[in-house]
Amino acid sequence: MTLPKKVKIVEVGPRDGLQNEKQIVPTPVKIEFINRLSECGYQVIEATSFVSPKWIPQMADHLEVLQGIKRHPKISYPVLVPNMQGFEAALKAGAKEISVFTAASETFTQKNINCSIAESFERFAPVIVAAKKNKIKIRGYVSCALGCPYEGEIKPSSVASVAKKLFDMGCYEISLGDTIGVGTPLKAQAMVKAVSKKIPMKYLAGHFHDTYGQALANIFATLQLGLATFDSSVAGLGGCPYAHGASGNVATEDVLYMLNGLGIKTGVDIDKVITTGLFICQHLGKSPHSKLGLAKLANKQN
Ligand code: HMG
Ligand code: MG
Repeated sequence: MTLPKKVKIVEVGPRDGLQNEKQIVPTPVKIEFINRLSECGYQVIEATSFVSPKWIPQMADHLEVLQGIKRHPKISYPVLVPNMQGFEAALKAGAKEISVFTAASETFTQKNINCSIAESFERFAPVIVAAKKNKIKIRGYVSCALGCPYEGEIKPSSVASVAKKLFDMGCYEISLGDTIGVGTPLKAQAMVKAVSKKIPMKYLAGHFHDTYGQALANIFATLQLGLATFDSSVAGLGGCPYAHGASGNVATEDVLYMLNGLGIKTGVDIDKVITTGLFICQHLGKSPHSKLGLAKLANKQN
């Protein structure tokens, strides 16, 4: 078995995490949260999303957040952008990297971004042209890569064709989202294998939600295929508001613990991540969704 020597972790807690919290976190807390994450050693921290505040009120302060954080020169802070309106606002706010997002399920795409998969590509086309003109990097997401809350099973070939389209349009990396965390290791491998026949593995990322406790197993299974970029969320925060029942992303702390144990380098400091997880959970009035975070909390209380 060959495993990658290095893995890139894309921290999605400030976006994928906080977008699904019922309470709206005050802007200064979000800014401090991201500033603390910036001290942990990540290369990429997804900061916010430039979507409609009527759809996702939790991200309505995108401008203030992106302009308020202290940006580390070695860290990229991508933001989600669904259309030109979002792109123009992100550009004004000083974004240097954006993520466009669609899905391998028609119904989910309608519920999430109010258009068909084909229409989502039509919306992204001018966004990608404008981003390239402004030297802004573009990442692409494919949701429902291992199942859809409305349509059930999704074929790996459908995921592969949506991913390929995003890649051909100019996305430098495609994140394959198990939005509702229904995947299991062999299914995750089959999906990643199907996509990697069309796009080299080095341009792919795994984005596993942990609804049924399968995310770490899915990461380990796809690491074995050579996948070396994973999205995760500090304290396991998160979910998608348009995928009922979707719980948080896999907790970054838990991913780091596994990767450290496997001797795989990430450059991310697990202790700082655990502490930052406790910081945001304290503000949310909840416990971390991470065994390591819980252990640290128990130690503090004893
Ligand atoms: P729409 O209603 O079809 O858009 O929404 P529209 O163009 O018809 O405009 C309607 C209103 O929205 C107008 O305002 C626009 O100004 C406004 P009104 O005249 O009614 O006052 N509007 C915007 N406002 C701010 N920013 C914008 C924007 N665009 C239009 N960019 C839209 C289409 C995509 C905007 C909407 O459906 C939306 O915002 N959806 C939210 C989607 C979302 O953020 N979902 C969660 C993230 S995806 C996810 O979590 C999955 C992922 O983690 C991977 C995985 O786990 O699989 C990435
Ligand atoms: Mg997600």
